[in-house]
Amino acid sequence: MCGIVGYLGTRDAYPLLVQGLKRLEYRGYDSAGVALFNGHLEIFKCKGKVADLETRVGQAPSATMGIGHTRWATHGEPNDPNSHPHASMSGRLVMVHNGIIENFAAIKELLHGKGYTFKSDTDTEVLVNFIEYIQDLEGVPLDQAVRMALNEVIGAYAIAVLSKDESGQMVVARLGSPLVVGLGNNEYFVGSDATPFLDSTKKVIYLEDGEMAVLSRRGVQVREVASDMPVDATIHQLKLDLDSIEKGGYEHFMLKEIFEQPKSIRDTVRGRIDLKTGVVKMAGLDAISEALLDAQRILIIGCGTSWHAGLVGEYLLEDLARIPVEVEYASEFRYRNPVITSKDVVIAISQSGETADTLAAIKMAKQAGATVFGVCNVVGSSIARETHAGAYTHAGPEIGVASTKAFTAQVTVLTLMALYVGRTKGHLSAERCAQIAQELDTIPAKIESMLALDARIKKLSVDMADSTNALFLGRGYNFPVALEGALKLKEISYIHAEGYPAAEMKHGPIALIDEQMPIIIVAPKGDMYEKLVSNVQEVKARKGHVLSITGEGDTEVRALSDAIIEIPDTLDCLSPLLTTVPLQLLSYHVAVLRGCNVDQPRNLAKSVTVE
Ligand code: AGP
Repeated sequence: MCGIVGYLGTRDAYPLLVQGLKRLEYRGYDSAGVALFNGHLEIFKCKGKVADLETRVGQAPSATMGIGHTRWATHGEPNDPNSHPHASMSGRLVMVHNGIIENFAAIKELLHGKGYTFKSDTDTEVLVNFIEYIQDLEGVPLDQAVRMALNEVIGAYAIAVLSKDESGQMVVARLGSPLVVGLGNNEYFVGSDATPFLDSTKKVIYLEDGEMAVLSRRGVQVREVASDMPVDATIHQLKLDLDSIEKGGYEHFMLKEIFEQPKSIRDTVRGRIDLKTGVVKMAGLDAISEALLDAQRILIIGCGTSWHAGLVGEYLLEDLARIPVEVEYASEFRYRNPVITSKDVVIAISQSGETADTLAAIKMAKQAGATVFGVCNVVGSSIARETHAGAYTHAGPEIGVASTKAFTAQVTVLTLMALYVGRTKGHLSAERCAQIAQELDTIPAKIESMLALDARIKKLSVDMADSTNALFLGRGYNFPVALEGALKLKEISYIHAEGYPAAEMKHGPIALIDEQMPIIIVAPKGDMYEKLVSNVQEVKARKGHVLSITGEGDTEVRALSDAIIEIPDTLDCLSPLLTTVPLQLLSYHVAVLRGCNVDQPRNLAKSVTVE
């Protein structure tokens, strides 16, 4: 979850590195640093944000090569000495690193025995000294020393290394953490993703796990770390443009991304379904269609919001495709010795495509013979390349740490998958498919009509801003929405919030209800409506303050609730795509009122690439 940048070319490196780090801050931000090379290596680093680093650096020395890093601590607390870049003991080498070196203690002990001393608690400083030790021992150039060292380490890494003695050269490598090389005009870039250098070049190489690259003025050489064999790397031409990254006039990335949902859902559906017949056509599904149609069970794995999308997927696939589904937290699944067979299809959901627990769970499922399908939002991400097949969510970059448009895009892909399997297995009639497809086509416009309620939702958020707790209730397809609404509120406003199946409330949580506790009940028109009316009555009978998300023109829930947010009617199976949106806006406005850092909430990172 750290961010790495690098530059080698003819322009001044420092401004390019700082700009890149700012675009990566969402990946983790408790400290930042740069190393600049202009005949000698200068390191500037400190605890805090990139802006704090800029203050520390002041007038930067000019240099045409450098590396930079934003950190989300895994080894050693956030402080100046633990910030990256780290230099070797002699000062000859300097390195930035994203990941965890699991055997760093043993290596540190070996180096201690050779007289090495350390200034930090980090695994990174151990690795850069290990590279120096090997280079001195073997008398080899930097790239070979890096390669030999990496063949000894256990763990995950994305690194960029410079040497005082080998100017004009940068060595990078990756295993388990992402790294992208940008190919400019006589200049080269490195980034944890492509956003740091997007306005300079859109030609990129995604390093694969176990690959390294040597960047020099002569070009980029990609090799295998293990064998040192050259790799004929694929050059991708990115379609992202910079303003899709910037805030586009919104106060926060999160608000921009909430408002992008009509577009992100249209983009996710585009070209994948005949909106008249409901016939789904997705290359990723065709690639595993035999396994999918023959599957005895579908396992859905993910973390956080992606896990909530998976829960909606369970309702969709069982309801529409009549196939047994189990949804698992990836972090639990990977360690509980689950029963997995070749008859299982695993759907791995991840916005970033880099979540360590999800990636590890995928590898375990593949080893057990399951077919694994990825639903990711980042092209070329590790999960996207690890799975047998997959579908991108086409939601565009999601910069806000709290996931919004990725969630509704994930649910959209899962809806398409349920239609594909249900139709192909004969559980869904052509008419039912067409009906769902045509309703799906109206969802973006219906979301637009709800976004128009933003000012009203902002007013309602005032009532919640001083709460210390909140309870979100939902049933059926909207039980996962209640969980997701609670996660949104707690992760950006720091109010403790719980999501619960509405009928479960009487088995415990009802004891929590008093005048202080806001209760948000997701009660759209649909199969569970009458039951939800009873649930609202139960809460009101205990003097709970109820905000209901309900259908346009509703009267029963409206009469019982203290406040309502009306959403357009839709089919039960598509309702999460609508009911989620007011909960995202509500949480956003509560967090802003509480003065929280909405895009970069405390303690959180956008992509949890370590356990
Ligand atoms: C959601 O708002 C959080 N940012 C977090 O729970 C996130 O969904 C989780 O870390 C999974 O991330 P992924 O989708 O990138 O795998």
